[in-house]
Amino acid sequence: MSLFNEVDVVRAGFFNALNEDPARIDLETLRIEYLGRKGKVAGLFKQIGQVAPEEKGAIGQALNELKQELTSILDEREAALISVSSSDKKSAIDLTLPGIESPTGSYHIITQSLNDMIEIFGRLGFSVAEGPEVETEWRNFDALNILPDHPARDMQDTFFTKSGHVLRTHTSPVQVRLMQSQSPPIRSIMPGKVYRNEAVSARSHAMFHQVEGLYVDKKVTYAELKGTLELFCREYFDTDVKLRFRPSYFPFTEPSSEVDISCFLCHGKGCRICKHTGWLEILGCGMVDPAVFEAVGYEADSVTGYAFGIGIERPALLRYGIPDIRMFYENDLRFLRQF
Ligand code: DAH
Repeated sequence: MSLFNEVDVVRAGFFNALNEDPARIDLETLRIEYLGRKGKVAGLFKQIGQVAPEEKGAIGQALNELKQELTSILDEREAALISVSSSDKKSAIDLTLPGIESPTGSYHIITQSLNDMIEIFGRLGFSVAEGPEVETEWRNFDALNILPDHPARDMQDTFFTKSGHVLRTHTSPVQVRLMQSQSPPIRSIMPGKVYRNEAVSARSHAMFHQVEGLYVDKKVTYAELKGTLELFCREYFDTDVKLRFRPSYFPFTEPSSEVDISCFLCHGKGCRICKHTGWLEILGCGMVDPAVFEAVGYEADSVTGYAFGIGIERPALLRYGIPDIRMFYENDLRFLRQF
């Protein structure tokens, strides 16, 4: 190839490199590759010695022109970049700056806990039902066999509205709604907010969350209740969690139990969280009392069922070592971002 041809090849290579990336800001690499001491143009100059004497003048001129051309193009580009970044700082885009990270939101820890529960019970065949937070006294108490002289019905414990309704004190009235509107079989969980007229402190709040569970069919057994709760607790708390069913009393279930799980922090050995007992009280449950079936118009002889109620906040407090229940509701991003 004659040296004239090589000049054309080098020129074409330069423009290709430049056009490949029109926004190119790394001009220095290109300058070194073509115009540097060991660059492509210098390489061409070195070959002048081998050219026939009568061609030397012409090739020398062509090489000088190439060098001038590439130099001025690179100078122009560079000047353009500098003037953009210095004359119009606000609108200039500095492509070398790192991008601005946009923060991603996440679900509130209470919502996350609820969703986890919904997902686990969903796999066990439970659908999700909801009811209103302002409820009739009848559904919140009477239909659940909580008689008029029961202490929970006191103004001290329950918020009453002027219209004679109550802010539901538990999610159990949603059981009543479900049974009033459907016939068995029913297999649902009912998550939501509940209200108690309590002084707000680090350990208790006037509003918190519960998940109610109800399974009604023919011949439902206490063994099924145990099995379901055991499966749930293993998924939700810990794979090797142990359950302890203690006899208890709720007006709407008979028999009734309170359920403790082996402490998921010390695994039953005893620690500060479980107050050195190795157990944490986690939920209430039992077989639906026939009086409840009668209240909703079921034939109490032909149906059986179990029910349970789990708080959301308490397990979360324990699990994450949160010292104050009020932190859930204060929307302090430093707190929320940890979950
Ligand atoms: N409603 C009870 C409470 O708020 C919790 C509960 C206990 C719900 C036993 C139930 C149950 O469905 O069977 O403390």
